Amino acid sequence: MHGHCENNKGPWRGDSAEWAAMQVYAISDVHADFRDNLWQLEQLPRHNYAADALIVAGDVSHEPEVLRRTFDIFLERFREVFFVPGNHELWIREGQHASSVEKFQEVLRLCHSLGVHTGPEVVGSGEDRVCVVPLFSWYTRPGEGSDSLFRERPMQEPAESVWADDYLVKWPRSGGFRPVQYFLDLNAERLNGAYRHGNRISFSHFLPRQDLMFAARGELPPAAPDPGRALFNFSTVAGSSLIDEQIRQLGSRLHVYGHQHRNRRRLYDGVWYVSNCLGYPEERRGRVIQDPGDILQSVWPLV
Ligand SMILES: [Fe+2]
Repeated sequence: MHGHCENNKGPWRGDSAEWAAMQVYAISDVHADFRDNLWQLEQLPRHNYAADALIVAGDVSHEPEVLRRTFDIFLERFREVFFVPGNHELWIREGQHASSVEKFQEVLRLCHSLGVHTGPEVVGSGEDRVCVVPLFSWYTRPGEGSDSLFRERPMQEPAESVWADDYLVKWPRSGGFRPVQYFLDLNAERLNGAYRHGNRISFSHFLPRQDLMFAARGELPPAAPDPGRALFNFSTVAGSSLIDEQIRQLGSRLHVYGHQHRNRRRLYDGVWYVSNCLGYPEERRGRVIQDPGDILQSVWPLV
């Protein structure tokens, strides 16, 4: 009756009182290649989340072994784990994959083999019951389409690319391959009427809206540019407004995203947008990202 959005696992703990206590948590950009990041994940309590679901909104690692190890940490603690690949997962080494699309498919197979959801699933029950819908995505560069989130800034772009994707992400050479369109097309069947019953929440790695990039009152501003580093306009690789069109088409109540390494919690036109990144150790030390007391943020039920 609910298309792909079924939960066939039966009662959660055989105790209906505990169903209602289900929460959905979110995290992104855990970059588990950093020893300190992996350590923080290993410190997560083992028994607090046994009835809960976790959304992992991309950028765990480009290394399949680190990815697997990180999923194991989450799967040992959460009842359900959801994931979409970020740009780091699609980095390839010469000779190992024909393209980043091949790597994407390999990552999905790894998720499937471990029981990590990359497709829609219903979690919870009663009023808290919600369909979690992963949305695959990429970014549109300035000049590639009107859906780009690019905004001009008065800064000198470096002559050499400082964006690692330019070296490590490779798309199929077939003419006209557009990564944004490729990934959004994969979402198409997730958006149809099968999920019209009850609440839906969604998540993507990349940003769905330009306004999420900029700090609002009370949020930490971007760090002062490091003089030793080439300046880089993040908006050139931030995301696509076509992701927001899918969020609206789905009727999502809340959308979790990552990629930017700046945390947000905003309400735009009836939809909550939440970003909760672990980010790089250097960013936490530099207070670009709040040093999280709790590295996981509860996003559902809405409060
Ligand atoms: Fe990213």
